[in-house]
Amino acid sequence: MILTEHASEEIRQQIHRLCGIHLQRDKDYLLVQRLSPLLAQHECRNWEELANRLRGSAVRCDLHQAVVEAITTPETSFFRDGHPFEAIRQQILPPHLASGHGMRIWSVACSTGQEPYSIAMLLRELRATTEGLPRISADRITATDISQRCLSIAQAGIYTPHEVQRGLSEIRLHRHFRPVGTNWQIRDEMRQMVQFSMLNLIESWPDFVGFDLILCRNVLIYFDLPTRTQILRRLCQLLPIGGWLILGAAENLLQISLPLEPVRVGLTTLYRRSG
Ligand SMILES: C[S@@+](CC[C@H](N)C(=O)[O-])C[C@H]1O[C@@H](n2cnc3c(N)ncnc32)[C@H](O)[C@@H]1O
Repeated sequence: MILTEHASEEIRQQIHRLCGIHLQRDKDYLLVQRLSPLLAQHECRNWEELANRLRGSAVRCDLHQAVVEAITTPETSFFRDGHPFEAIRQQILPPHLASGHGMRIWSVACSTGQEPYSIAMLLRELRATTEGLPRISADRITATDISQRCLSIAQAGIYTPHEVQRGLSEIRLHRHFRPVGTNWQIRDEMRQMVQFSMLNLIESWPDFVGFDLILCRNVLIYFDLPTRTQILRRLCQLLPIGGWLILGAAENLLQISLPLEPVRVGLTTLYRRSG
């Protein structure tokens, strides 16, 4: 079935409206690859009908969610890119651990959970080395994503042998996971540190109190500049002075003016909220 220029334009606009993802015409192959199965599943005779149905419903319906699930990219891994987690371990965590206060952390587009669980493992490992220090409050990791499918996997915390091989050492695997059949499940202590919930970054957010550290990695690349700017402004408002933001390796604050000061640690640029 041919994806006409008109249907492509309309579907790309609807995707932008639903989740902020900005696709140009040269991404038609992606639309065809990812959305073709939905035509049959949702009984659309052609792409025009899919476009009409997406546009026709103002309230969120099953078709909208199916398109969002199909078009988002859940690529992730434990300790993705390595060096940002080393920078967090060296620069961000020690003063917090010494203060006795628990850390409030937000993994903004957490996909299937590897990112927030990597932070949970890191915190647990460091806390074990400072056991004698007083603890005033517990660490809390909030993890959100637009994809319900990803969140279900994240909540179960069960990963295939292939997934655990991506980024986890044997030591961490055996320390923080237990075998479940041929798969591995993150231990309950770690699962209890993370609260997962659905959140669309371009819609309203719950009344968050604020975070010491926000990880917003490998999601802004899918948005256009106005959407990125808007989301970053809102994230910035949730950081106290001295709070930290981490972006993905291909993301930066170019063309966006915010009270965030870059701090280089090894190969990673961290951003610290200034006054
Ligand atoms: C490539 S993954 C990044 C996962 C993780 N942060 C990492 O760096 O490994 C991008 C995630 O962004 C989510 N996403 C895309 N658009 C979103 C939106 N509007 N609101 C919330 N999450 C979104 C996708 O569902 C996907 O899980």
